[in-house]
Amino acid sequence: MLIAGKARLVGEIEVSSSKNAILPILASSLLSDENKTILNVPDIRDVTVITELIRHLGVKADYKDGSLHFSGGATGQTPPYELVRLIRASFLVMGPLLATKGAVRVSLPGGCAIGTRPIDLHLKGFEALGARISLTRGDVVAKAPRLYGNHVYLDFPSVGATENIMMAATLAEGTTYIENAALEPEIVDLANFMNSMGARITGAGSNVIKIEGVKKLHSTVYTPIPDRIEAGTYMVAAAATAGDVLIKNVIPEHLKAVTAKLLESNAVVEEQDDHIRVYRQQDIKPVYIKTLPYPGFPTDMQAQFMAYLSLGRGSSVITESVFENRFMHVAELLRMGAKIKTEGRTAVIKGCRELTGARVRATDLRAGAALMIAGLMARGPTIIMNSEHIDRGYENIVAKLNGLGANIQPS
Ligand code: EPZ
Repeated sequence: MLIAGKARLVGEIEVSSSKNAILPILASSLLSDENKTILNVPDIRDVTVITELIRHLGVKADYKDGSLHFSGGATGQTPPYELVRLIRASFLVMGPLLATKGAVRVSLPGGCAIGTRPIDLHLKGFEALGARISLTRGDVVAKAPRLYGNHVYLDFPSVGATENIMMAATLAEGTTYIENAALEPEIVDLANFMNSMGARITGAGSNVIKIEGVKKLHSTVYTPIPDRIEAGTYMVAAAATAGDVLIKNVIPEHLKAVTAKLLESNAVVEEQDDHIRVYRQQDIKPVYIKTLPYPGFPTDMQAQFMAYLSLGRGSSVITESVFENRFMHVAELLRMGAKIKTEGRTAVIKGCRELTGARVRATDLRAGAALMIAGLMARGPTIIMNSEHIDRGYENIVAKLNGLGANIQPS
């Protein structure tokens, strides 16, 4: 990907549906063999991979004009390794397959640039519901002729573990309580989707989720929530380029932490019902950020904010408390003239006068987005290698940003 250089972003931009809501929703569609239609599905690689994986399990899936139609239930129990290794979210099919097939075998999800990404909490939940778990040759095998409701306490409010256990518990016999559950809006969206199929889930969005097991789930048509991280990324890009952008199709409530930090940094954020306007006319002020589970500052916005804070006067401090290795973008930003020092999970960013374009490498989805923002702030061209990471979660990002005045050529 080639970014020509500094560009003040001005205009309107539309946010797509949430990648991190759709991926568990697609997995949970395996809980019913009736027809399901999901609307406004973005054309992004992670969705394509999960849809392919569900097809491999025997479900008929058609993607047309942004809608995904599923019919028929899964016949298989073992998602293919070559698809599972492509995306961690594949592991989310384990809960639904355990609940409907009574047995499932999934290769341990690959780690990725941001950390080892263990799944111990997922497995602890499945065992609490009566599954027997074994590890054979790099695969996790779970067996449970029947799942029974139980209390599950999560040592950490893991998004994936909350989702996987909630899905498995939906068809269990009896009632399950997930305590210290994740509060993310994507959890609420997944619960709403499953309830639209006849599940009985209450408490999603709080730290105790109650799931009353039901016998069967039925068909549904569903529209997922907008992508709060895509929206946050464009909010930061607007502030970073001293632009003025109206971001449409957002839920401002989902972006409170990002809005608060943008305001602290001297950007202006105007919330209206389903859109947010962001502009900046004063110098960037340094801020302190600590990433936390929702509603704290989202880890998925950490890299983008670090790029933004690279300019300006004074020093900002960012602590990454969710993942153990999510500073891979620092080395790339240093190549563009940023002044950043990291110590463990803390980075100190000393604002500088100017960034200069360079050849850099995207290590993961959000680091890639951060490098795009840096490229739009820098003097001279930036080439982003491995920019396919960005296409995993940002639908039409080049066209959307060029529509605001950027000059980006896809790779
Ligand atoms: C989800 O990943 C998101 N992905 C991530 O977004 C996001 O960064 C993350 O939640 C945190 O908000 C999807 O929703 C598809 P976790 P997930 O389980 O579920 C540890 C993006 O850029 N942990 O909440 O994998 C884990 O190691 C992606 O869109 C365990 O120790 O996140 C990590 O340190 C990146 N044991 C922390 O919890 C477990 O069993 C958060 O992980 C599970 C997790």
